[in-house]
Amino acid sequence: AVVNPVNLHHYDAHPHALLCVDAYGDIAWIEEHVPDALVQDVMAKRGLLDSTDVSLIQLKKSEFLMPGFIDTHTHAPQVPNMGAGQQYELLDWLEHVTFPMEKRFEDVKFARETYKAAIRRVIDCGTTTCCYYATLHVEATKILADIIHEYGQRAFVGKCNMNRNCPHDYIEPSTEASIAGTHDVISHIQRLPSLPTPSEHPHADASQLVHPILTPRFAISSTPDLLSALSAIAHGDSSLRIQTHISENVHEIEFTKSLFPECKTYADVYDKYGLLRHNTVLAHAVHLEEEEMEVVRQRGSGISHCPTSNFNLTSGVCKVGELLDRGIKVGLGTDVSGGFSPSILTAIQHASIASKVVSFTPKPDHHPKHKPHFANNALPVSALLHLATLGGAHVCDLGSRVGSFAPGKAFDALVVSVSSRAGNPAIWGVEVDEALGIERGLAGHGGEDHLKRMVEAFMFCGDDRNILRVYVQGRVIGGREWKRD
Ligand code: GUN
Ligand code: FE
Repeated sequence: AVVNPVNLHHYDAHPHALLCVDAYGDIAWIEEHVPDALVQDVMAKRGLLDSTDVSLIQLKKSEFLMPGFIDTHTHAPQVPNMGAGQQYELLDWLEHVTFPMEKRFEDVKFARETYKAAIRRVIDCGTTTCCYYATLHVEATKILADIIHEYGQRAFVGKCNMNRNCPHDYIEPSTEASIAGTHDVISHIQRLPSLPTPSEHPHADASQLVHPILTPRFAISSTPDLLSALSAIAHGDSSLRIQTHISENVHEIEFTKSLFPECKTYADVYDKYGLLRHNTVLAHAVHLEEEEMEVVRQRGSGISHCPTSNFNLTSGVCKVGELLDRGIKVGLGTDVSGGFSPSILTAIQHASIASKVVSFTPKPDHHPKHKPHFANNALPVSALLHLATLGGAHVCDLGSRVGSFAPGKAFDALVVSVSSRAGNPAIWGVEVDEALGIERGLAGHGGEDHLKRMVEAFMFCGDDRNILRVYVQGRVIGGREWKRD
């Protein structure tokens, strides 16, 4: 059974598909309707039966395959802080909870042990591509990239740039030091060994799973000359992604405007320094003004919607439906530890709730040209699935490589089980499984509708116990059935 996002309005659910992955971990082909009896015929027609190095994996009736989750915004060093500091809003939370933890990563031994546990947890939650913030430390950030590389996850890793309005013992001493450290980390990551890939592969960076990303933490902690220097680095390499925070909290916005009085809006600050472009990932965007949404759309930047964090830090509710109606790219972010869960499933659940909260106070249509699809409505399952996969892929400029299944794309995938035997009886429970015929194969016989029911149950009631295997570029790197060597 294969689940495949198509767009915000639609996803495919094929109960009997056959998908072929080549030796490099790319998808070679997909046949959407292959009854069990015809599997051998299809493989023979594709010339696979003569080959000795082909293995056929058949899923159980209670299992399905879907693209891996894409987390467009998280902080690896904040994983130990998950569930801490529920009483704070953003600026106090940074000062009292977050910066003290991040400072500890100056100790490379602490960094290594903590990052190993954090990355293992993120992978086992089904995140196959992740945009990570590290800390301001050069050595610890290199260690983070090394661990992600070793574990085989696809990722963007950024050393935070932060040279003002931070604690005296957790701040970069100068713009020069911040920029030198950034160059150091970028070249370290770019020198990590790549996977074997044929030289004629159409995607230049296909063999490289871990990439650097420029990470000015947010406007408040960046001096104008730091933003200028980062902008210069960005202009030297148009493929270099950029990530930062925007318009998360009302006090943050007020402070930002006071620091950059020449800029009319928060988005203006980043735009003025040339940091808004097609591969910029902007986290939160809770309180964007009309003209900010327009500039984000024009620049082709993407939004990381972090609903768990936006609720948890009492930041507000992002009007995601309106962003989508305007044609802005949107993905999901866990924003650990502003968000208290490393799982994109939690982000999906809270994105649904957030859209329902927004729908309580419908907004008159600002765009009479476009009939609003999402602005005033709960996001449907198709849109939630899209945000968690293909939408996120577009936000981090990987839409041609990951986020859905298609020939030529990388096989980044999850094998999901909704059987209570997977260890999460909260989904249906053994008795309900029996009644619904999950184990006996009703899922397959039930066809597309039944498979979609399984997908919805996983998205709203599932957790990492339901994720049996996590594949990145065709290799199993995690999940409940994965065993450490
Ligand atoms: N703004 C600046 N730094 C942070 C951070 O670590 N988390 C969140 N949620 N917002 C930020
Ligand atoms: Fe964040």
